[in-house]
Order: sequence, then C-alpha cells, then structure tokens
Amino acid sequence: MGSPIKNVAVVGGSGNLGRAVVSELVDAGFTVTVLTREGSTATFPAGVVSKAVDYSSVESLTPALEGQDALVSTIATVAVAGQQPLVDAAVAAGVRRIIPSEFGINTRFLGKEPIGTILQGKVKTLNYIHEKSKQNPSFTWTGISTGLFFDWGLEHGSIGLDKATKTATIYDSGNEPYQASNLPHIGKAIAALLKRPEVTTNRYITIASFNPTQNQVLEIAEKITGEKWTINQLSTSEQQQIGVEKLSKGDYSAFSNLLRKRVYGDGAGLAVQGPDNALDLLGLEEDDLEGSLRAWLTK
Ligand SMILES: NC(=O)c1ccc[n+]([C@@H]2O[C@H](COP(=O)([O-])OP(=O)(O)OC[C@H]3O[C@@H](n4cnc5c(N)ncnc54)[C@H](OP(=O)(O)O)[C@@H]3O)[C@@H](O)[C@H]2O)c1
Repeated sequence: MGSPIKNVAVVGGSGNLGRAVVSELVDAGFTVTVLTREGSTATFPAGVVSKAVDYSSVESLTPALEGQDALVSTIATVAVAGQQPLVDAAVAAGVRRIIPSEFGINTRFLGKEPIGTILQGKVKTLNYIHEKSKQNPSFTWTGISTGLFFDWGLEHGSIGLDKATKTATIYDSGNEPYQASNLPHIGKAIAALLKRPEVTTNRYITIASFNPTQNQVLEIAEKITGEKWTINQLSTSEQQQIGVEKLSKGDYSAFSNLLRKRVYGDGAGLAVQGPDNALDLLGLEEDDLEGSLRAWLTK
C-alpha cells in the first residue's frame, strides 16, 4: 500500500456513526476532512476541515478528495444507493482505500432473504467498488459489518430496552447471541484498520464489540437497576410476516421487522466469535457490555 495513510476524508461525518468515526480518527492522529452537503450547519472538532459537496457530481467531489489517502463513507442509509459518483471521484483523486457505508449486517451474505431487497443500495455500491478496484489495483477497499449499533440502539429502541417503563421486548427465546458494536468502538476499528491497511485489503470483515443474548442484556439491566423488568414477548416469525407484508407495499420501514428476524431469531447464528471477529486482526479487545449498559442506564 506504500506510504502510511495520513489524510482521511469522512462522508456523513455529522451523523450518528460519522461523529464517532471523526472523533476516533482525530484521536488516532489522522488529518480529517469531512464532506458535507451544501447548507449543512454541522460543526466538527478543532482541526477538522469540512468541505461542502454535491454527491451527485464527480466534478464537485473529485477536487474535495484530492490529497486524501482514504475515504470513509458513513453516509445516511437513504443515500447509500447514490454513492457511485463518490466512488468515481475517489478513483479519479487517487484515494487508496475506501470504506463504504456498510456498518450493519454482512451484505455479502444476504441469500434470498427479503431484507436483501432493502439493502441493494449497499450491495450495488460495494459491487461497483469491487469492479473499480479490479481496474485500478491501487484503489482498495474494506467492507465492515458491525451488527447492531448497541449504544445507539439503546437510545433508539432497537436493542429492545425501555428504561422509562423498565420494559424489555424479547424476541423468541431471547437466547440467540447477536453481533453488536458501540459507535466509538467502530471508530477505533476504522482507525486501527487505516494504521495497518494491508491486513484488510479488498476484504469484507465482521466486527463485534460483543455478542450478547437478549436475556443477558436484560439480566444485566435488572442487576444494575436492582429491579425486575416487565417482559414484552414477541415472535420473530410474526415480525418477518409484518416485514414481508410492508415490503409488498413498498414500505421500507419493513427493515426493522425483517432485521429482528435476522438477528434475534432462534438459530440465526450471526454472532461473530473467535477468529471471525476481526477485532483481533485489528489489535483491539472486545468492549465492556455491562459498562455500556451502565453508562446508558445511569445517564
Ligand atoms: N447497525 C446498525 O444498527 C445501524 C443503525 C443505523 C445506521 N446504520 C448504518 O450506518 C451507516 C451510517 O448511518 P447513520 O445513522 O450514522 O447515518 P445518519 O446519521 O442518518 O446520516 C449520516 C450523514 O449522511 C449525510 N447525508 C448525505 N446525504 C444525505 C441524505 N440524502 N439524507 C440524509 N443525510 C445525508 C448527512 O451529513 P451532512 O448533512 O453533513 O451532509 C448525515 O449527517 C449507514 O450505512 C446505515 O445504514 C447501521
């Protein structure tokens, strides 16, 4: 890969994940430039340069990416399908590593699951990157599957805990371990990867801060709060049916329902343990599950 990566551009650096990524990259000593849409009023840490761009225009994006060694896209889900000009501009500007906006379930293994329909924007972007990388071997990529955003999911309900009412929604038996990552931990993984890009060249990796079961998470929440929580028991088959029904009407809010089946369903088998968890490859430890819950519950 040649000289070390120093200059890193982040797309969507004002977002949920992007903020954590920018902060970790700055802490790791990278020079960070954030690309934003015209009119964005977001502010960034000292030393971070922001450049307004038009994501539909290679002419707008290429100069913004000149001099950048790497590009991390944390662009919003609604915009993932429109990243082709960004990829073309990265190639034109001589960017050496691109990390596309994946950061969820492993989109390389969707099979014929209905959830795959919703993720086609990510799949097509990565396929396009793959093609461009074959044509330009100095343009390399790493895809990262993170599983559920854990800290973000505690705040936004996707982990199933409601701390105001002390209610836990448990899908199926609650005993299936699932892949989950905290946002700063994902930022640390990206920083570690960019320090040693050669270990993940043109690879799709999976990382997990931890792989808890829903019941373990509930048990820790009960221990920390010192109270029994109310359980709201639901079935992932039912969630799948609701998701398929919504999808047939073109309603992409189906994603949450289908995701529950995919990650929480008994036998889902998506926990990433041992050598499958690339944290080891990146020289990182797992995160602290109880500490993560305590931080949220005592906030
Ligand atoms: N695993 C999980 O549990 C999980 C959860 C949520 C998201 N994700 C994934 O993580 C990635 C980042 O998601 P996120 O939630 O961090 O993103 P986000 O906060 O929704 O958006 C990130 C940034 O994208 C920029 N952007 C560019 N075009 C946009 C458009 N058309 N509409 C809205 N924003 C636009 C915005 O920055 P400017 O305004 O500065 O341009 C925005 O701040 C996505 O791939 C998403 O699918 C995973």
